[in-house]
Amino acid sequence: MLLPLKIKDKKIDVPIIQGGMGIGVSLYPLARAVAAEGGVGVISSAAIDRLLSKRNKKKYNTYEAVYEEISLAKSEGGVVGINIMVALGRHYEDSVRGAVDAGADMIISGAGLPMSLPSIAKPKHTALIPIVSSARALKIICKRWQRQGYRPDAAVLEGPLAGGHLGFQWEQLNLEENLLENLLPPVKDVARQYGDFPIIVAGGIYTNEDIKRFLALGADGVQMGTRFLGTIESSATPEYKAALLRAKRDDIIVATKPGSPCGLPIRLIKQSPMYQEALVRGRPPKCDKGYVLTKDEEGRYTRCPARESNESHFCICNGLLSSAGYNPDKEKPLYTVGANAYRVDRLMSVHELMNELKGVTSPPAVESAKL
Ligand SMILES: Cc1cc2nc3c(=O)[nH]c(=O)nc-3n(C[C@H](O)[C@H](O)[C@H](O)COP(=O)(O)O)c2cc1C
Repeated sequence: MLLPLKIKDKKIDVPIIQGGMGIGVSLYPLARAVAAEGGVGVISSAAIDRLLSKRNKKKYNTYEAVYEEISLAKSEGGVVGINIMVALGRHYEDSVRGAVDAGADMIISGAGLPMSLPSIAKPKHTALIPIVSSARALKIICKRWQRQGYRPDAAVLEGPLAGGHLGFQWEQLNLEENLLENLLPPVKDVARQYGDFPIIVAGGIYTNEDIKRFLALGADGVQMGTRFLGTIESSATPEYKAALLRAKRDDIIVATKPGSPCGLPIRLIKQSPMYQEALVRGRPPKCDKGYVLTKDEEGRYTRCPARESNESHFCICNGLLSSAGYNPDKEKPLYTVGANAYRVDRLMSVHELMNELKGVTSPPAVESAKL
């Protein structure tokens, strides 16, 4: 039995947070299903305006899209959050406001340090949860939030085995000190200094045994991405799911050059068509989506390294949008996964997966021949 997790005023029956997966992998069908099983279902705010505009054939802005998706995810009860990446600067504040107004149970925010999160909108009953990869980063955030009169309601500690962008430089990825179990104690110490809030660990957690091991080490809960990517309810395209099922251990790489224009290493299936195209520089630079634009000297959002040159970067907006089924005929997809993705050998329903993770049913037989 896994013990329940308490965050702010919320009791979470199963201490499993389904990690936010952008673009468009964790939308309301997945989040609602996880929430119904007693875990935390999390939608991703990334490019959600475009995804809902396409889905419903009417124009949404970010605030409206976030509001609607959270309302749908909450429609059958349970605890529902949203993942909002700091790297998506242009839409960050609107996403936060939409989430708070829609009554999201939590905002989980990383891919950069969410320094001003408590000041964007009065959080009311929404828990504010930063994602960090070190005790140092958590301390910086706690100090900054304290000046805004707020303390984290919990924090996610994400280690180097996670899917998506990673909070480590390439050369730090394999250091002993960066193993999730070694990162945890100093992060717990920081949490204790600032009100003893819960620490949720993420990155490479795969089985009920893994969950129990981290809870025994002092974690209060876990966040898992890759296992939920491989569910029937995730909104990845059939091609993305097929690539996940095919992936062998050697197919999973951390890309830096060509890499993400966000400037962070990102874990990918190396056969991802957008990555392969970037290797041969097959796609001329073009930036027509602009979610990861940063500000120029005049404070306008105009800068993205993938906009100027395709020497070192792929176009992450179009690559990930394509893997969510948006414009797949025009742009090639990019498949991000966690380090354990090679272990996924069949798609499961969320119900079946949650039963396995809770320890109600047995895990799958020893890893398949894909190794
Ligand atoms: C397909 C995919 C997309 C992801 N997208 C995001 C994202 O948009 N924002 C984010 O903070 N984390 C993202 N992540 C990280 C997950 O939320 C989670 O923390 C991580 O995958 C945990 O590691 P695991 O995949 O080994 O379980 C993504 C992970 C995957 C697999």
